[in-house]
Amino acid sequence: MRMILVGPPGAGKGTQAAELIDRLRIQHLSTGDMLRAAVAQGTALGKQADGHMRSGGLVPDDLVIPIVIERIKEPDCQNGFILDGFPRTQPQAEALDRALDAAGVTLDAVVLIEVPDDLIVERITGRRMDPQTKIIYHLRFNPPPAEIADRLEHRKDDTEEACRARLGKYHSETAPIIPYYEARGLLRRIDGVGAPKDITVRTFQALGLA
Ligand code: AP5
Repeated sequence: MRMILVGPPGAGKGTQAAELIDRLRIQHLSTGDMLRAAVAQGTALGKQADGHMRSGGLVPDDLVIPIVIERIKEPDCQNGFILDGFPRTQPQAEALDRALDAAGVTLDAVVLIEVPDDLIVERITGRRMDPQTKIIYHLRFNPPPAEIADRLEHRKDDTEEACRARLGKYHSETAPIIPYYEARGLLRRIDGVGAPKDITVRTFQALGLA
């Protein structure tokens, strides 16, 4: 299975990706995670990406496209992958198509998790991540165990201000690529409002995995 997870910030892409990779045993390729790792390691890419990410902007296509195109050529991606957070612009979508064509493979599905804007800020500002297990929690919707509270991380771009900027970028740059996949019959729309386990059931059903 080769699929894309798309949706606004905080839609639950990472939360649902964890369920999908557990079931499908394929690679989870999150450009957000890749870029945060580059920032943490202080690489040249990380230094260029950091400011864009903190302010809620997009990292330029010429930096993001090569890391994904090279990554999907790796042996561990040959059985499939979930792209989480890529493509986010029309040039990224076109670059992905060229790379898949060159490899002689096709996309199976594009899952769009839809959540209204007015729910996004609360989801984003309440998010916390356990750096040891990488499990994503939410202070209200999925509270972490008390004994790990001290080690939880709050992402630098999970402020209300950066969240609103990310939402703006989603509507101006990413939402316009949705018709590109809809026209090809690949799009699966998922109502992202409800308990995470219910969204998982909807996603599996939409992918014919239920
Ligand atoms: P990225 O890391 O991709 O962030 P994002 O798309 O904004 O998505 P998030 O990770 O914030 O949310 P999510 O949908 O995964 O939600 P989650 O499951 O965590 O990108 C970050 C930045 O990197 C970008 O802003 C950009 O600068 C750069 N970047 C990345 N890719 C790029 C690209 N291709 N091109 C250019 N720049 C790029 O859930 C959120 C919270 O809600 C959690 O606390 C969770 O517990 C909770 N939650 C989840 N589901 C539910 C539910 N059903 N009900 C209630 N709460 C829920």
